[in-house]
Amino acid sequence: MSSQNVYILGIESSCDDTSAAILCNDQVLSNVVASQKIHEQYGGVVPELASRAHQQNIVPVIDQAIKQAGITKSDLSAIAFTRGPGLMGSLLVGTSFAKSLALSLDIPLIDVNHMQAHILAHFIDEDEYDKPEFPFLALTISGGHTQIVKVNNHFDMEIIGETIDDAVGEAFDKSAKILGLPYPGGPLVDKYAQSGDPKAFPFTKPRVDGLNFSFSGFKTAVLYFIQKQLKENPQFIEENLYDVCASIQYTIINILIDKLKKASKETGIKSIAIGGGVSANSGIRKALKDGEFKYGWKTFVPKFEYTTDNAAMIGIVGYLKYLQQDFTDMSIVAKARIKF
Ligand code: KG4
Ligand code: ZN
Repeated sequence: MSSQNVYILGIESSCDDTSAAILCNDQVLSNVVASQKIHEQYGGVVPELASRAHQQNIVPVIDQAIKQAGITKSDLSAIAFTRGPGLMGSLLVGTSFAKSLALSLDIPLIDVNHMQAHILAHFIDEDEYDKPEFPFLALTISGGHTQIVKVNNHFDMEIIGETIDDAVGEAFDKSAKILGLPYPGGPLVDKYAQSGDPKAFPFTKPRVDGLNFSFSGFKTAVLYFIQKQLKENPQFIEENLYDVCASIQYTIINILIDKLKKASKETGIKSIAIGGGVSANSGIRKALKDGEFKYGWKTFVPKFEYTTDNAAMIGIVGYLKYLQQDFTDMSIVAKARIKF
């Protein structure tokens, strides 16, 4: 192996996915994700159970990532881990493991901000995927976050808009729950929406100042609407599932696109990159493509496996920080809430 190559182990444990990845420079050699099924029966992530499952998964997941990459532990140049934001009990598992492994291998330790990683996932080297040029706008949409970020450089980012209550993924999941769909319902709403009429049931969009978002009122609007319809027709959901899903998705996508248009206008930036689990949504993907035509945007959607929580995105931040020799020491602690 060439001595110029940098091998990074990335570890992600901020929510309910335990993931480990190996990168050689900016290329992904392996990216193993163990998703925790245990939460499905509770209709949402249970922090205590998540932490316990991370403890069970972390050793086999890291072992598998190293094996699949075809390297050994002694090849590693550094270890990068998610410091936050996320669930404290979950973050602690990855943080403590990363610290002890770095100590035992005597290699540098690199702390990574999970939200920055969702954005920098675009810098993983992949055939057929372009890297955005600076400055660009990043829309990070997941079960925990909704942000518009002005990205001036790899590590010079500015949050210019964010949700003041629920995240967009929660809006999808909570609406799905009202419809009786299993958790996480976002992908199912997306699937059913594709066979429905998006204008069948108009939901009003929340009015929020500036570039911020609010989704808690939307969820309540869906609840009241469904309750009212069920009173008149107990079969309403079964008979209108596709149209309801299409209408929910249409409203959510409109809320996101409206703010993106505003952000693009205010900053004069037309390069737009998305990240986070909700960027798997077919509606947002289509709306962004339409934006290229309608508003002259250049849009960037990462490879599917790098949109949801994964360690490859932690690894790429590790690599970029490694190049700057930006290391941390053993006194570092996990943080549930951090900005950039
Ligand atoms: O980034 P992610 O894997 O985990 C968090 O950090 O939250 O995002 C998960 C979220 C869930 O709310 C899930 O319902 C949503 O992403 N999601 C979708 C789709 N695929 C995943 N929402 C709408 N349409 C989809 N196709
Ligand atoms: Zn995430």
